[in-house]
Amino acid sequence: MKQLSFALLAGAAAGFSVSEQLSLFESSPRDDSRPYHDATQAWWDSVPNTDSMLSSFEENMAAAIDSDYTGPIDSSIDLHPGHGGHHGDVTKTIYELIKESKYTQKFSELVDEFDEIKALLEDTEKQNRTLLVPTDSAWERLPDGHKPPPKEFVLAVLKYHIVPGRYPLGRVLHSHTLPTELDLPNLGGHSQRLRFRIGLFGARINFFSKVIAADVFAKNGVIHALDSILVPPPPTKKVIQLLPNTFSTFRLAMETTGLGEELDSDETEHNGGTLFAPTNRAFARLGPRANAFLFSDYGKKYLKALLKYHVVANETLYSDEFYKGPHHDDDGGGEPLSEETYIFPPLKETHSVDLPSLLDEKPIRVTISRWRGFYSMRVNGRVHVAIQDGLAGDGVIQVVGNVLIPPHKHHKHHDHDEEFDVEDEEGVAERLKARLEPYLETERGSKSSSGLSLGDL
Ligand SMILES: *[C@@H]1O[C@H](CO)[C@@H](O)[C@H](O)[C@H]1NC(C)=O
Ligand SMILES: *[C@@H]1O[C@H](CO)[C@@H](O)[C@H](O)[C@H]1NC(C)=O
Repeated sequence: MKQLSFALLAGAAAGFSVSEQLSLFESSPRDDSRPYHDATQAWWDSVPNTDSMLSSFEENMAAAIDSDYTGPIDSSIDLHPGHGGHHGDVTKTIYELIKESKYTQKFSELVDEFDEIKALLEDTEKQNRTLLVPTDSAWERLPDGHKPPPKEFVLAVLKYHIVPGRYPLGRVLHSHTLPTELDLPNLGGHSQRLRFRIGLFGARINFFSKVIAADVFAKNGVIHALDSILVPPPPTKKVIQLLPNTFSTFRLAMETTGLGEELDSDETEHNGGTLFAPTNRAFARLGPRANAFLFSDYGKKYLKALLKYHVVANETLYSDEFYKGPHHDDDGGGEPLSEETYIFPPLKETHSVDLPSLLDEKPIRVTISRWRGFYSMRVNGRVHVAIQDGLAGDGVIQVVGNVLIPPHKHHKHHDHDEEFDVEDEEGVAERLKARLEPYLETERGSKSSSGLSLGDL
């Protein structure tokens, strides 16, 4: 149950697809001149109270679980009535099908407000697409009589429901993540992805949203129906803030060292990024002495060096895709990523990527193993990624159950003898200090004063 509620909370922040959230539109600032990513950010900033939000996620999740035992697909929802049992109509476009279905009126009304979205769903020339359409009941909790959210935000939401390419459900579930039509400057112009997993309770998108009808085929693609709306994820910083039960120590560390501010995508230019975010338990595993050291005034600079080894700038590594640097369109035509651009060849089962951390560009080696639809991610050969692909508006969060220990500064590679045993709690603080010390020296361009010893704390 603990595991489940954690997944739920992580989902709440990195998934975003709950109708409750939409009732928060009320408080969102409205300024139609801003580009939609700013609007999305503003919307997330307007979320008034994390606690109430998270508890509403919990309620939703509980409800979803209760109604889930009938199986992942609700066969009573036929998006195309009149073709008993046979889904779809391959003489019609996606747009025509959602226009005709009585279950998708709300979404298609919104589509009609945006010619560019309508064109995507009517397109039969350029490529097929997959539409994840929230059914009308997903919108039911939208408050009546309130002003609508900013247009840019609605546009971003609509784009986030469209995947380039034709993905029947079986193929969706063999993908861990898929790109959408929503390209984000803070992701280096790459597409914001959706996260798919199949579990005990059926097919889920971004942790929360449930697929309730699948494989409605159209002339220009395929449609799946969802029980809730997919909201583009907020920036990394916000995700961390939204999950205090998991990341409060990490957040405190980012704040006290000032690193969080330095990396804030509101302040600095961003081309995506990968954050290996240690859980509160990961910090606790270092033991009280090491924590007292790292969070002391004296230890702060060591903590900062340690944290830098968890951050990769401008390179975004998902379990099944790698955005390396900014996205360049050769033809300038905004062609979305296709399967051919994946770095992971479909047949290769184990793949390692070295990511340059902010700590002297010391590499973080990520090894991804794939077996059928199952992916495992390990960091530096030892640390398991507990929750993969936490989506954020400016990168991805890979949640680790252990704090990552940087390699010896002057060693070229990770060696087995570099293993850093945190079980031996006695010396952890001293060994951490010794391991991090050489990094502090280069950072300041001079020898750090090593007059102080841990005993002085
Ligand atoms: C869309 O998919 C259908 C079925 O696979 C195919 O016949 C059609 O040519 C595709 N359209 C485009 C534009 O690729
Ligand atoms: C990331 O990209 C931005 C924008 O191009 C650049 O300003 C920044 O220096 C890069 N960061 C690193 C660590 O390379």
